Amino acid sequence: MEKKFKRTLVTSALPYANGPVHIGHLAGVYVPADIYVRYLRLKKEDVIFIGGSDEHGVPITILARKEGVSPQDIVDRYHSLIKKSFEDFGISFDIYSRTTSKIHAETASAFFKTLYDKGVFVEKETEQYYDEEAGQFLADRYIVGECPHCHNPRAYGDQCEVCGTSLSELDLINPRSTISGGKLVLKKTKHWYLPLDKYQQWLSEWILDGHKEWRPNVYGQCKSWLDMGLQPRAVSRDLDWGIPVPVEGAEGKVLYVWFDAPIGYISNTKELMPDSWEKWWKDPETRLVHFIGKDNIVFHCIVFPTMLKAEGSYILPDNVPANEFLNLEGDKISTSKNWAVWLHEYLADFPGKQDVLRYVLTANAPETKDNDFTWKDFQARNNNELVAVYGNFINRTMVLTHKYFDGVVPESAGLTDYDRKTLEEFSAVKGEMERLLDVFKFRDAQKEAMNLARIGNKYLADMEPWKLAKTDMQRVATVMNVCLQIAANLSIAFEPFLPFSAKKLRDMLNMDFCDWSLLGHADILAAGHKLNAAELLFEKIDDEPIERQMKRLEDIKKANAEANYRANPVKKDIEFDDFLKLDIRVGTVLECVKVPKADKLLQFTIDDGLGKRTIVSGIAKHYKPEELVGKQVCFIANLPPRKLKGIVSEGMILSAEDYDGSLSVITPLRNVKPGSEVK
Ligand code: 2FM
Ligand code: ZN
Repeated sequence: MEKKFKRTLVTSALPYANGPVHIGHLAGVYVPADIYVRYLRLKKEDVIFIGGSDEHGVPITILARKEGVSPQDIVDRYHSLIKKSFEDFGISFDIYSRTTSKIHAETASAFFKTLYDKGVFVEKETEQYYDEEAGQFLADRYIVGECPHCHNPRAYGDQCEVCGTSLSELDLINPRSTISGGKLVLKKTKHWYLPLDKYQQWLSEWILDGHKEWRPNVYGQCKSWLDMGLQPRAVSRDLDWGIPVPVEGAEGKVLYVWFDAPIGYISNTKELMPDSWEKWWKDPETRLVHFIGKDNIVFHCIVFPTMLKAEGSYILPDNVPANEFLNLEGDKISTSKNWAVWLHEYLADFPGKQDVLRYVLTANAPETKDNDFTWKDFQARNNNELVAVYGNFINRTMVLTHKYFDGVVPESAGLTDYDRKTLEEFSAVKGEMERLLDVFKFRDAQKEAMNLARIGNKYLADMEPWKLAKTDMQRVATVMNVCLQIAANLSIAFEPFLPFSAKKLRDMLNMDFCDWSLLGHADILAAGHKLNAAELLFEKIDDEPIERQMKRLEDIKKANAEANYRANPVKKDIEFDDFLKLDIRVGTVLECVKVPKADKLLQFTIDDGLGKRTIVSGIAKHYKPEELVGKQVCFIANLPPRKLKGIVSEGMILSAEDYDGSLSVITPLRNVKPGSEVK
C-alpha cells in the first residue's frame, strides 16, 4: 500500500437477498475480498470489511408475489441463510448487515435529499407502461409483445431475441405484462435522474487519466462506457418496495435499488462504528476498495463515484478489482436455472472442507478471464495438491518429529549449504507474495504459498531423515528443525487463503497466531518447544461424493432441457417448399463495430461472395466486435433491407439462443467460400 493511506475500507458487493449464495459469487467477490482483508490484518494494518444483503429491487417483489408472501418474508429468509453460510465459510466481515435496516433507510434517504437540495438531479416526466392488474409500473424486461420488425409474438421490451433488434417497450405491438399476463396502459410518471452526462469529463479524467493501474477489464469497460457517451440515469422507481423518495410529490415512489444499495456500504459502516464512521468515508487518508463481479463495474466505477462526488464530502474508490465470471461444468451459472453449487449445500455436503473450496476457487479465480469450475478439478486439486503436497509435508514433519524427538522441536546442530539454500528460497516467498497480493493477484499469490510447501517436500525427500536416523541423529535434528520452521511459515503464508487449516496447523504446532512480519523467518519455533499430536491437515476425497455432485448437475440439465421445450415447443410442421424459400448463406466478417448510442447493436461488413454486405445485429451484449472479425457466420440473404439506427441492414445473422438467453453465433465447422448456401 502506498504511504499516503493510513487505513483501508474494503467493501464486497451486497448480494441480492432473493436466493442463496453460490460459488460464482464466492470466486468473483467474497473469497478474494476475504483474502485481501485477512492479509492486511496479518500485516497489522487498519482495515474494516463491510458486507450485507441487498434487499430491494423488482425481482424480490416478483418472487414474493409468486410465493404468495411479502417481500420482507423473502429477504428475511435469504438474509439469514446468506449471513449464516458466509460465517460458516469463514468470510470474515466486520459487519454483515442489510438494506432493510432503519439506519440504512435514514442514510440513503438523507443522501438523496442532499443531492436533491443541491439541485443535482434532473426531473423528467415520461410515459411508462402500467400493469393495472398488478398495480405497478413495469421495467422493460417485464414487458413482452409482438416485435414490429419480425412479428415474433414474444419479443421483450428491450430486445427481440428472434431478429436481434434492440427495442423500446413503446415499440411493441400489443404489449403485455410478464407478471400478471394482463394488458398494459401508458401512464405519465415523474422521476429524478442523475445527470451522468454532466460528469463525463470529470469521470474521464479521474478514471482514464488517474487510474491507469486498474485491472484491464475494469479500465476497458469504463473506457467503453465513456466512449459511448454517458446518459442521465433515473434514480427513482414507481414501486411499493424500497426506500421512499423523501421529497414532496413523490408518493408511491422509491429509490432505485442501485441508488440505495451502494449507500448500504456507508450505512453498514455507520452501524458498525456509530462514532467514527466518517473517518472511514471522508478522510482522504482512507483507501476505499470495492470487490465486485464484472456485471457491477458501471455502478461502482461510474454511478456510485458520481453520487459521492456530487455529494461532495466523501472519498472515492482507490481501486475496484472486479473479477470476470466463473462457469460451472462449462455452462454459465444461473440462479433461475438452478445451475449452481450453492454455498449452504456445499457446507452441508462437505462438512469441515471450507478450505478445499476456498483453495479451488482461488486456484481457478476468474481474475483475467471467465473460468470454469468442475467437480473433477475440485477432487484433483484436493487430492494432488492439498493432500499430496501441503498435507503430506505437514504430516511427515509432524510424524517424524514425534517419532524421533517425542514431539519436541529439536535443536539444529549446524546448517549445511543445502539447508541454507533451502532457507533462502523460502525466505524469498514473502516478498513475492506481497508483490502479488498488493495488486490483487490472489491466484498467483496462493501458488507461491503452495510453492513453500513444495520446497519443504523436496527438502524432506532429498534429506531422507528416516535413512539418516540410522547413522546421524544430529543431522536428523537439523533437518527436522528446518522442516518445522517451514511448517510454521506455511501456517502464516496460508492464513489469508485457507484460514481453517492454518488454525489447525497452528494448533498442531502449538503455536500462537503470528503476524505477517515473521514470514520467511527460520526461528519461529524455538528448540525445546512441545508440539501437539499430529492430525491430517487434509483428507483425500473419493470418487463417490464427486459422482453424486455430478449426477445432481446432470439431473438439473435434463430438467432444464425439458423446461426449455415446454417454454419453446417445437413449431407446427411446415411445407418443404416453405423451407426452400429461406436463403441462408455463409459470409466472412470483414469488419465489425459497435453502433454508436445503441448498446445492443453491432454493425457487420460481410464478404458475401459477391461483394460487401452490411448487416446490423443485436448481439453486442454477447460478443466484443473484435472477437468476430475474420469469422464465418450464417445469415439470411433474402430478407428485405431495413433501417436500424439509420443504418440499412441487408440480412440477419443467425445465432443459437442458450437456455439462459445468451447468444452464440452459428458458424460452419469447416471454412467454406463466402456465399456458400446453407441447406
Ligand atoms: O449484482 C448484485 O448482486 C447487486 N445486489 C450488487 C449490489 S453491490 C452494492 F452496490 F451494494
Ligand atoms: Zn423481431
